[in-house]
Amino acid sequence: MDSKNITILGIESSCDDTSAAIIRDGVILSNVVAGQKVHEEYGGVVPELASRAHQQNIIPVVDRALTRAAISKEEISAVAFTNGPGLLGSLLVGTSFAKGFSLAAGVPLIDVNHLQGHVLALFIKENGVEFNPPNFPFLCLLVSGGNSQIILVRDYLDMEVIGQTIDDAAGEAFDKCAKVMGLPYPGGPHVDRLAKEGDPLKFEFSRPRIPGLNYSFSGLKTNFLYFLRDKLKENKNFIEENQKDLCASLQYTIIDILMAKLKRAARETGIKEITVAGGVSANSGLRNALKENAAKYRWNLVIPKFEYTMDNAAMIAITGYYKYLNKEFTNQNIVPFARTQL
Ligand code: KG4
Repeated sequence: MDSKNITILGIESSCDDTSAAIIRDGVILSNVVAGQKVHEEYGGVVPELASRAHQQNIIPVVDRALTRAAISKEEISAVAFTNGPGLLGSLLVGTSFAKGFSLAAGVPLIDVNHLQGHVLALFIKENGVEFNPPNFPFLCLLVSGGNSQIILVRDYLDMEVIGQTIDDAAGEAFDKCAKVMGLPYPGGPHVDRLAKEGDPLKFEFSRPRIPGLNYSFSGLKTNFLYFLRDKLKENKNFIEENQKDLCASLQYTIIDILMAKLKRAARETGIKEITVAGGVSANSGLRNALKENAAKYRWNLVIPKFEYTMDNAAMIAITGYYKYLNKEFTNQNIVPFARTQL
């Protein structure tokens, strides 16, 4: 198979972002992401509204991705799409679009696991930008609104989840606690901003006692909720008066939980190549904690460009590229799944 000019159209629609991207020979040509404001007033993603918004966004988003990449439909070698995990109604929109495109253009169809996409985002090349990917094997801390995992990556298409949350994801902990404090959705970036001026040791919240490399965030969420409920009984202005310290202490606890298991994973596997992915990796406190630990334990730390850590189709297209090289194609019978394993 000719490995030059392999041009992959990537489609991502697993949650509330509709995205399309074009990657040629591993180099990004375009990455278009349409967010969905419709969920803001509900304080979280409403699945039915998400599917409907994907349906409206998908064609214009793909069109924009082709225009920005300055290529025609005829130049596409294959179409790659997210087939899980995610919201089923949302996934169905991207899957159906990709199937239709593949059939109409007569190009192969490639199914991509969303989590694998987050990891392989580390291998997206940009013209004129130095390319510093991690070396195999490496560990990836994947932290987003829907996932909190430690993944052992042996090769592009060979990875294993060695630790994961048994309940809520780290992003959910940020968002749900932020909601209790009356902050807008998604709350993670607001907590991050306010935490910068707060005291991380002012309040102490509970940490889970989970064996091995797994995570749990539901106890912290409940602890935070009950703590505020009790404090509000004494002082109805408690949140406003302590908002920055509450955010700083909450963020400090979440980061502490995440880092404890990551350090343990590095120790147990002996791997010093450490990476991070997912929306929560934008958190400034987490980035600082990763850098401090990298210096202390001599890790080679690779943090991807912010644009590729959030949900986006570039990560689906790059995974499609490696699967294309490996001739891993699927067919028109493929269906998406809300829950899928790596
Ligand atoms: O990967 P992503 O874009 O999509 C989902 O999996 O949903 O991650 C979104 C998550 C949300 O929970 C959001 O609050 C969180 O990432 N997030 C942050 C920050 N920026 C985004 N959490 C903490 N600090 C941030 N700066």
